[in-house]
Amino acid sequence: MQTPPAGTLRAAPEEILVSTVDYRVIDGVAVITLNNPPVNAIDQGIRAGLLESVGRLAADDSVKSAVLIGANDTFVAGADIKEFGKPLPPPTTIESLSAMEASPKPIVAALAGNTLGGGLEIALAAHWRVAVAKAKLGLPEVSLGIMPGAGGTQRLPRLVGGAKALDMILSGTPVNGTKALELGIVDELVDGDLLAGAIAFARKIVAEGRPLRVTSQLQDKVANTDPAIFADAIKKNEKKWKGLLSPYKIVEAVQAACTLPFAEGAALELKVYRETQASPQRKALTYMFFAEREAAKIPDVPRDLKPAPVKSAAVIGAGTMGGGIAMSFANAGIPVKILELKQEALDAGLARIKGNYATSVSRGSTTQAQMDERLGRISTTTDYAQIGDADIVVEAVFENMEIKQGVFKTLDGVMKQGAILGTNTSTLDIDQIANVTKRPQDVIGMHFFSPANVMKLVENVRGAKTSPEIIGRTMAVSKQIGKVPVLAGNCDGFIGNRILAAYGRECDFLLEEGATPWQIDTALQGFGFPMGLFLMRDMAGLDVGWRIRQYREQFRDKNQRYSPVGDRICELGRYGQKTGAGYYKYEGRNATPDPEIEALIVKVSADLGIERRKVSDEEIVWRVLSVMVNEGAKIVGEGIAIRASDIDVTYVFGYGFPRHQGGPMFWAEQQGLDKVLAKIRAYHAEQGDNWKPAELLEKIVAAGKSSWKDAV
Ligand code: CAA
Repeated sequence: MQTPPAGTLRAAPEEILVSTVDYRVIDGVAVITLNNPPVNAIDQGIRAGLLESVGRLAADDSVKSAVLIGANDTFVAGADIKEFGKPLPPPTTIESLSAMEASPKPIVAALAGNTLGGGLEIALAAHWRVAVAKAKLGLPEVSLGIMPGAGGTQRLPRLVGGAKALDMILSGTPVNGTKALELGIVDELVDGDLLAGAIAFARKIVAEGRPLRVTSQLQDKVANTDPAIFADAIKKNEKKWKGLLSPYKIVEAVQAACTLPFAEGAALELKVYRETQASPQRKALTYMFFAEREAAKIPDVPRDLKPAPVKSAAVIGAGTMGGGIAMSFANAGIPVKILELKQEALDAGLARIKGNYATSVSRGSTTQAQMDERLGRISTTTDYAQIGDADIVVEAVFENMEIKQGVFKTLDGVMKQGAILGTNTSTLDIDQIANVTKRPQDVIGMHFFSPANVMKLVENVRGAKTSPEIIGRTMAVSKQIGKVPVLAGNCDGFIGNRILAAYGRECDFLLEEGATPWQIDTALQGFGFPMGLFLMRDMAGLDVGWRIRQYREQFRDKNQRYSPVGDRICELGRYGQKTGAGYYKYEGRNATPDPEIEALIVKVSADLGIERRKVSDEEIVWRVLSVMVNEGAKIVGEGIAIRASDIDVTYVFGYGFPRHQGGPMFWAEQQGLDKVLAKIRAYHAEQGDNWKPAELLEKIVAAGKSSWKDAV
């Protein structure tokens, strides 16, 4: 293959240039390379460079075709999300793509790595597509609160049909190259060197004299689309889409693709795309995208620390939590040994794990082959000596300090040096556990959420002596097993449960003041929580919290307001869903309000001398969110959370806070931190010291600032 002189197009003045588009001729084919590390996101440089390259292709007599490829081992991961909400300098992506489609010479897109969002839209505007089998092709915009806006909703259906396109765009889930070939998105798979394969393909179509295949002109796949699929998609997903805008707009746009000429469909797509871009939920969801990535950045862990991937794991305890944690490792391809001292406990745990996998297979979310493969990675032992060579051990035994300390003394004796020693605790002091070992620097809290194989959040908790290296490796392995990790400092409740305690307390007080569990839960669900607090408590079981309260009673400050409603309910033997009654009564999982509980609450109010009043839904939402924000600000102020956005990540991924509202701290910024502080001050005056405003919030507002970032 000869390598003619390279020419790098400078698409914008040097000083604003962040990306480059390279044009060179190889083997008589123009090779256009999009380069914007790390993921070749589409910014002005890419848009303009692409447009210019297409013009150059038309004028270049030395070539008859072009290959469009990405640098950095990937195609293009979509529009540059950092540019959202800002005016974009020309040209638009649509202009560049229209020019591509109108090119008199065929353009072949060569796809590897991520071909997502605007990246796939670029590929769809090419005349042909080749890909490697592992390429990831998808339109994930829905998870950012937007939709494809550069022809994706119009071109994809023309290649794969309305129903499949709807599925792909609504789920946002990418497909690999092999599946894309089967669906008709790509025309050929390349085995081996992608550029060489794409050049060979381009030469072949020229040699065969194939006519240009212009996606926007294809009609076959959309011509006979069943009109019912659109209404059906809405009906099927209505509950899931509550409060969301973009899924509805996606349905509208794909329907247009199947019923209107391309130009009309594209105009509609652009109109509704702009509506989604302008929506507050787009702002919240984009914020969450970056917040999730920011949470992985720990100031004292070097950015260039690239820990070796964990290759083996051990879990102590085969209970529900231990089993779920073991499944997370197995699902990620990591062999895991579960240890229990008694064989019966191991057998019961393994049976539960098998049951969980079997349920996933029956629901179709896992195949039988996957189940067998994953189960094959899980082994069991009753002998500590058998787990000593694991790269990480996660202890998940009963939540009791003495028991956990005993486990850690043993682990200290058997685990290889340098192993991560994780403890899954939601309440206990990490230092007290770490200090029974001779290597407290290797001990870290790993607070998983139940069911641990499903829930995304893992709250990693650093002890006083945990080393930055172990923190970095624990954050990395958390990601390796598909979790979203947040780092917390060591305090009662860490980040998540400390806020939950404050939020639960205010819900209890609202009951005493005049609300009912049903009203509070309905108001919170109206805000977007999938489940209100009392339904959540009933589901988790009320007895554990009751036992903790009984133990803590001796330390409780008797001058602070305390609600006995939860205790009264437990005294009746009502422990939630599992006993058929809690804050609600249950038939199976169906909750209905219970007049007996409402009478109990009214009696508590009377006993406490509280005159019941009408509580509005708005008050419920504001009081709950304000107390979360105030506690969150204290947590950031004390350095327990590194940054406010970590609290949002914790709440969205671990506590069901509606992602499209961006988390409590983001919500507060949207309302105005001064307005939220004014509310908190009013509650402080009315309710007492529980509501003492966080110093951090006071400081930001006093400085006339409006963002948590202004505190740094
Ligand atoms: N825009 C800007 N930055 C992006 C980006 C994008 N589209 N995609 C990734 N990045 C950045 C990340 O913020 C991260 O930056 P830092 O290192 O500074 O934190 C870096 O690239 C690497 O990303 P990840 O840490 O996420 O790396 P990964 O390998 O785990 O995942 C990925 C890579 C799958 C591409 C993932 O980043 C991702 O899902 N990106 C978003 C893809 C997407 O949603 N594209 C659609 C955008 S909207 C659109 O294209 C439609 C339109 O027309 C407006």
